[in-house]
Amino acid sequence: MSQQRSPSFLAAHVERLSRTHLRDLLQDQERGQRLRHRVGPLLLDLSRQKLDHEALQALGEHVEASGWQRARDAMFAGEPINTSEDRAVLHTALRGGASHLPPMAPREARLEIERTLQRIEELVRAIERGDAASMGLPSKITDVVNIGIGGSDLGPRLAVRALSPFHVPELRSHFLTNVDGQAAYELMRQLDPRRTLVIVVSKTFTTQETLLNGNVLRDWILRSYDGDARATSKHFLAVSANTAEAERWGVATSNIYPMWDFVGGRFSLWSAVGLSLALAIGMEHFRALLAGAAQVDDHFRSKPWQQNLPVLLSLVEYWNRNALGRSSRAVVPYADLMGDLTSYLQQLEMESLGKQVTPQGEPVAQATSPVVWGSVGTNAQHAYFQSLHQGTDTVPLEFIGVVRPAHPLRANHDALLSNLLAQAAALALGKTFEEALAEAKSGDEQARRVLAAQRTFPGDRPSTVILLDSLTPESLGALIALYEHKVFMLGHLWSINAFDQWGVELGKSIARQILPALEGQTDDLSSFDTATRALLDEIAQRREG
Ligand code: F6P
Repeated sequence: MSQQRSPSFLAAHVERLSRTHLRDLLQDQERGQRLRHRVGPLLLDLSRQKLDHEALQALGEHVEASGWQRARDAMFAGEPINTSEDRAVLHTALRGGASHLPPMAPREARLEIERTLQRIEELVRAIERGDAASMGLPSKITDVVNIGIGGSDLGPRLAVRALSPFHVPELRSHFLTNVDGQAAYELMRQLDPRRTLVIVVSKTFTTQETLLNGNVLRDWILRSYDGDARATSKHFLAVSANTAEAERWGVATSNIYPMWDFVGGRFSLWSAVGLSLALAIGMEHFRALLAGAAQVDDHFRSKPWQQNLPVLLSLVEYWNRNALGRSSRAVVPYADLMGDLTSYLQQLEMESLGKQVTPQGEPVAQATSPVVWGSVGTNAQHAYFQSLHQGTDTVPLEFIGVVRPAHPLRANHDALLSNLLAQAAALALGKTFEEALAEAKSGDEQARRVLAAQRTFPGDRPSTVILLDSLTPESLGALIALYEHKVFMLGHLWSINAFDQWGVELGKSIARQILPALEGQTDDLSSFDTATRALLDEIAQRREG
């Protein structure tokens, strides 16, 4: 497959810009102004991307010719754009109530969404009032455990942690994800089963990890009621599109909140999947999150490409990936509270865009999803930034910062922000050999030159800066919606379906075949490859050791 072909309409721009250093591009203040934009509480600075006006214009003409507005409207209107599953893609309708534009989603979907928001609100308010018993739940709830994985975990996990300054008192949130029993074991040691509310979040209600963890916590809670099976309906809520399976598992029908086929898991934070978040921060704040996202939806629906932040972000990624051949992007939030952003984006972007065929089954014409990786700054500076500054590969970065922190420690925050700004500047500007030589004071000329060579920074390394005025439900909602629409735009530009995920199925089905061998239910390993057989043998021999 010819996935590495760079688009010919960009070739002359790549060639021209290969002779220009970012240091020189940054001299042009007008260019900088054109590449810095605001939407609501977010500032997006693209001025350290290796682009000039002509290259951006070429990208803009390309996207204009692609019919992106028509594709966008098809999503908002609920057309079945997820063609391999014949589904609409309506996560925007989940926050549509806060939009200032006329609704586009089908009325039926909007009513369903509104009804569910009301149910979430009733639950949140009952627990806040200390009146959960009126809904058949434990009268005193101190801890809420969200069991789920992928899209049923990453969004609420990110938001619950990011918005911890907004948490209601006396209710702790926990996330149980991995099938590694260690986490469940630790949680059961800490919590009081009779005061724990468990939310099992699974769109399919067939996910191995989630059901296993659900079973473990169900046994634990039942034990505390001497095996009385009614405790399951008292302590467990489910969020699922598979109501029948959730009921069979033991969740009371009135405790099941819907997920819909028209919302993909990784786009579902705004639905009942966000129940643990709504409980943690209260309904006003949950609605503020939806409003922040709706603000970006309205912006995406109404602005021309030149001022449209999701479109600009997608064009920059297209440029880096397809014109310049960058195969990864580092996401570095300078905010501990946003420590889960990178893993959230890994699923949002890589599960959506890691595809190599078009919806027509043809090979794609260019490379698709870069690898997304990263972790919080400044910690990251003391781990892998050496390679980003002086390594042989150029990795575009995304710096995310917060102007006003949620704490009063001004000196810490100034130091944090100064590091963010310094890294973006250093990566772009670098340090020339001559500058490094001038700094090397001791030793003879030869020694000074050797040292200067090692202390030279090539620079010319691109980055984007996103600044949130402060980290609030509104700004977080806006930030996540910005990324969602960027993903939509890249799916459109790359002619792939960003809303299915067939690629994760193969490993799941092989795991189902391997499990009986680990459980000792079969000795016949002949269907496995030689490496798997050898490792199964090793595990069997050492198990009891
Ligand atoms: O791993 C693939 C996936 O289907 C994700 O897309 C999804 O978010 C996750 O598994 C969890 O699925 P479910 O919500 O059905 O348990």
